[in-house]
Amino acid sequence: MAYYLPLAVCTSLLVVFYFTKVRQDRRRLPFPPGPKPWPLIGNVLDIPTSTSWYTYTKWSKIYNSNMLYVNPFGQKLLILNSFEDAEELMDVRSANSSGRPFNPMMQLIGLDAHTAFMGKTPLWRKHRTMLRQSLGKQALIRQHHVFEKKVAELVHKIATDPGNFRGHCKAYGPAIAMDVFYGYDLVDNDDPLLIQTLKVVDQATDALLPGVFLVNTFPFLRYLPRWFPGAGFHDRAADTRRITVHIRDTPFDRAVKNLSQGVGRPSIVTEWLRQDKVDEDCAKLAKDVAIGALEAVIETTSATLDAFCLALTLNPEVQKIAQEEIRQVVGTTVLPTLRDRPFMPYLEAIYRETLRWAPPTPLGVPHTTAEDDVYNGYLIPAGTVVVANIWAMTRNEKKYPEPEAFRPGRFLDPDGTLNHDDRVLTFGFGRRICAGKDLASEIVWLAMANILATFNISKANDENGNEIEVLPKFIGEAVSHPAPFECAIKLRRELEGVL
Ligand code: HEM
Repeated sequence: MAYYLPLAVCTSLLVVFYFTKVRQDRRRLPFPPGPKPWPLIGNVLDIPTSTSWYTYTKWSKIYNSNMLYVNPFGQKLLILNSFEDAEELMDVRSANSSGRPFNPMMQLIGLDAHTAFMGKTPLWRKHRTMLRQSLGKQALIRQHHVFEKKVAELVHKIATDPGNFRGHCKAYGPAIAMDVFYGYDLVDNDDPLLIQTLKVVDQATDALLPGVFLVNTFPFLRYLPRWFPGAGFHDRAADTRRITVHIRDTPFDRAVKNLSQGVGRPSIVTEWLRQDKVDEDCAKLAKDVAIGALEAVIETTSATLDAFCLALTLNPEVQKIAQEEIRQVVGTTVLPTLRDRPFMPYLEAIYRETLRWAPPTPLGVPHTTAEDDVYNGYLIPAGTVVVANIWAMTRNEKKYPEPEAFRPGRFLDPDGTLNHDDRVLTFGFGRRICAGKDLASEIVWLAMANILATFNISKANDENGNEIEVLPKFIGEAVSHPAPFECAIKLRRELEGVL
């Protein structure tokens, strides 16, 4: 017994010494390369405010490294331009890299309780479990009838009003989400709930951008009173917060009322409420998870479908091959469904190529590290914001020669079957990977298949009958969309009079 005490003390000292030494040694390691910081302001002037993925990709050439480290105003920022590094640091080491940076503006507009913006907390894990149970591949089979109904509405809207195809594509994702989560039938593009949700999503997108809100650079500003010069963000935030609460509560309350009266359709929200006793906490949880998912659908899905229409406009030969595949599998009198998906490898390749060619989330959503880490001889300190430059990964010329060309064939083997490159990078990484990726994959594929089966998309003509040239250009930051472009969307001749 007398020996135990000194032994325990020595062991503790050794442990403390070991960890202190390791930490000190780690602290002597360099950070990954990157632009030289200025005193006080660090790299604040180096951080681009738009289409930053291009700049970050260029940095790899300048600093001869796929990992780049910058420090704007004391914030540690690591940019990963290669898939291999992101896979190691964000997938394999995701226990350490699944946090989210604190975003004061998100908090002020009331979005900090939504899955995508929460820290790695037990509550976030609960969100993920609920989403996994309701949006896993197996669970989604029960929603296929909703997807088919909504895709038919999308096709009908495009057929009757082709000029506004972007508006129709924008309403498609939320219409599905509203239906599956709340049993709410959103049909009109100008449904007030949709308009208000779009407004909140716009604000959230702005809040994710560097430099739009000063309060995100200097978080202490959030303590300024509203009347203080420069504190105008408080008013804007309060407006958005009101709408956030409204769009969170309205469809939810309706679903709950229907549940209590035994009317209405079952939905994911009513399922969640049946599982638990409906107390305030459980209701708040269900509300936050559902609205967070609804917001996540909108821009990402519509940006993908816009890019798909742009790709078809620019690549008529791709369209022809896909239409022939659809004809061979389902004929010309019925529309393709998700049951046909396994039999259409070329269309699957179009789906993968669209998300590679025009990743809607070129920089994913930033993660943060919990503890110091060492990788390839570099120190990645605790609290580093880690950004996966998905755009750079999709431009890896070794893997994707001539990366700017839209070529679905890259995902096919010579015998026309799909190859093994099935990881869709734009869904992100590790434990934070998009919680709706299976739903997104199904509704995006279904829309692509139905648009191809129903329409011919081509360049539009000007008043003199000349083709209007289209240059693929992308705008946006948190979500990248094709810039507005002209195209002609015409019902395929064999369907005229049917729709
Ligand atoms: C093409 C469509 C979509 C794209 C490109 C996309 C992309 C992403 C990305 C990049 C992230 C962050 C991943 C990371 O942190 O590494 C994310 C997170 C998320 N997505 Fe998606 N998404 C899409 C559609 C959807 C849909 C349809 C839903 C739900 C119905 C959804 C729900 C979510 C949620 C809840 C998160 C937060 C996950 C977390 O932080 O734990 N997304 N998505």
